[in-house]
Amino acid sequence: MDKPSRRELDWNAIRDDFPILRERAHGHPLIYFDNAATTQKPRAVLEALRNYYEHNNANVHRGLHELSSRATEAYEKSRERVAQYLGAASPDEIVFTRGTTESINLVAQAWGGKFLRADDVILLTEMEHHSNLVPWQLLAERTGARLRFVPVRDDGTLELDRLPSLLNEEVKLFAFTHVSNSLGTINPVAELCQKARAVGALTVIDAAQSGGHLPFNVQEIGCDFLAISGHKMCAPTGSGALYGRAEVLEAMPPWHGGGEMIVSVTLEKSTFKKAPHRFEAGTPNIAGAIGLAAAMDYLDEIGRPEIFAHDAKLTEYAIERMADLPGLRVLGPAEKRGAIVGFVMDAAHPHDLTTFADQRGLALRGGHHCNQPLMKKFGLPGTTRASFYFYNTTEEIDRMIDILRDAARFFA
Ligand SMILES: Cc1ncc(COP(=O)(O)O)c(C=O)c1O
Repeated sequence: MDKPSRRELDWNAIRDDFPILRERAHGHPLIYFDNAATTQKPRAVLEALRNYYEHNNANVHRGLHELSSRATEAYEKSRERVAQYLGAASPDEIVFTRGTTESINLVAQAWGGKFLRADDVILLTEMEHHSNLVPWQLLAERTGARLRFVPVRDDGTLELDRLPSLLNEEVKLFAFTHVSNSLGTINPVAELCQKARAVGALTVIDAAQSGGHLPFNVQEIGCDFLAISGHKMCAPTGSGALYGRAEVLEAMPPWHGGGEMIVSVTLEKSTFKKAPHRFEAGTPNIAGAIGLAAAMDYLDEIGRPEIFAHDAKLTEYAIERMADLPGLRVLGPAEKRGAIVGFVMDAAHPHDLTTFADQRGLALRGGHHCNQPLMKKFGLPGTTRASFYFYNTTEEIDRMIDILRDAARFFA
């Protein structure tokens, strides 16, 4: 994409940056509305990967040769870029990981293993993705800590008036999602962090669904940890990062042992590097880190506020049009929501509906979306989910509405 000024943004030209969007599925033009699961990749990211492998590929940190220096420089520059993108105070606060799941497991094992005691409380919410639930369950089993949950209301928002009784001094850690992957709810993360700080609890934000969609800054939010997944924000699969506030990260022991993370090793004992390298054992996903930085450049060239506004328009348009469809109910709040529309259709099970749509070239997602407890709470086997990104169009949404109308007739 040529650098557009904000006034000149041409969303159709931006769409052309994504070669895959010209694919056909089952003989129909592809409509890709599964962006909450993974986004597509622009040419700029594909070229950054290609350039790395064609010109700079070598292992980082250990080699005393030209290519290793280039790879190391590109890798560490990517760390600086991620720090800048997230608003971290220093690149040392950025650990490269495989994504949100690995980032949260890192915190649970390294921080939780050292600092959590029996009967301490980990506060979560009922809307967490399994990635921000199961690692805490495993930790609770190991340590004897207890889990507590902020309930979700029927409208998909958190019952924040319950916080005073839930978030007390027993709570050592409060982990919550920024944007719900099933309901689209945007949580007031800065307010939640401030309330957690007031009782001395650390905070973990699951930013899997906000990293590429919302403009934010970790220092302004005031969180201790924040996790992102590269593949949900135009970067390669297997890329991602954990932000950890310097003081907290430095106090944590390693979680994986191996090469790269040590200072010295004897047969009996090892000493470890400072953060973040202490948390990056083994050969990292060098190309992934470089691709993540390229994706961040790409997103910032468009502008995160512009992306958010464009996503919001698409979502509003979709919800408005879906209101005309009989027997269809959209979940989640009426306002303050991300580009995620989960819905149920009386006539069809989400899996049948998703298959029906797929046969017409429309990629939706049907199921529990790694939110089984939330689905159970709502008494649903699952939902169908359309999730948008800035390269989607209102014409594609119109086509989805036609397909959903046909489905309602077909399954009636
Ligand atoms: C809210 C949320 N958290 C965590 C994850 C897990 O992300 P990953 O699979 O990239 O680790 C997802 C993925 O869908 C998500 O939507």
